[in-house]
Amino acid sequence: APVKTDKAEMIVPEGVFAETVLEVQHYTDHLFRFRMTRPDSFRFRSGEFAMIGLMVGEKPIYRAYSVASPSWDEELEFFSIKVPDGPLTSHLQKIQPGDTVLMRKKPTGTLVLDALTPGKRLYMFSTGTGIAPFASLIRDPETYEKFEEVILTHTCREVAELQYGLDLVEEIRGHEFLSELVGDKLKLYSTATREDYPFMGRITDLIENGKMFSDLGVPAFDPAIDRGMICGSTAMLKETKALLEKAGLTEGANNKPAEFVIERAFVG
Ligand code: A2P
Repeated sequence: APVKTDKAEMIVPEGVFAETVLEVQHYTDHLFRFRMTRPDSFRFRSGEFAMIGLMVGEKPIYRAYSVASPSWDEELEFFSIKVPDGPLTSHLQKIQPGDTVLMRKKPTGTLVLDALTPGKRLYMFSTGTGIAPFASLIRDPETYEKFEEVILTHTCREVAELQYGLDLVEEIRGHEFLSELVGDKLKLYSTATREDYPFMGRITDLIENGKMFSDLGVPAFDPAIDRGMICGSTAMLKETKALLEKAGLTEGANNKPAEFVIERAFVG
């Protein structure tokens, strides 16, 4: 049966965390991020996702959300789309500091460092809010212990949608201990597809025509050196995966590490 917590004046289902929203930042009509309290008992690996929810009427509604904050962070961060008539996001987009957000207790996911075999260069390919798990991983020291070079690609339709990624990298550069650890190992490659921007086009096209490599000053994919993680729409996953396979990389999983991994649970 649902129980009433004193943490918030709302009915919350049993067996889930009820956390307090600390900060909300809106980027565009379609994108926002929020930070909330983190329960002491909630442990996750950077790159994993959790089920995030709200009570809508008397029913909780949950969706999979990658944790965007790193595992050492005392708070939790999420990056979300806003769908006008979305069952969850039409409500979630209205949250304010002090509100309660639900989170199921067990995180999971395939975009974790443990699912990759050792390599030198780690690519993280993302579109839209698919950057969220990588926002966690690029702020995790372990990423830089395991890789000499980390390349995060982020492709969005509009320039304003790229801001979250740009802010992230700026935050890292200004961060006390991360800045030193990251040094010049991290590169962000932002591209827009429907507005003018210094780098333009779908990441799949930029890989195929070689422009991504020349823009970044790196050689073509090499299965001995390069590792990959992919997060985006279903079509983007499929096409990016095909390009990595064509270059000789094989897909791994938690129980079978290999050269690249994909997050299939990701929606939108
Ligand atoms: P495009 O503008 O050419 O469709 P969406 O908002 O539809 O999820 O798209 C987010 C970004 O991902 C857009 O820049 C979009 O480019 C790009 N994209 C969409 N489909 C693919 C795909 N199959 N492969 C690579 N990128 C894609």
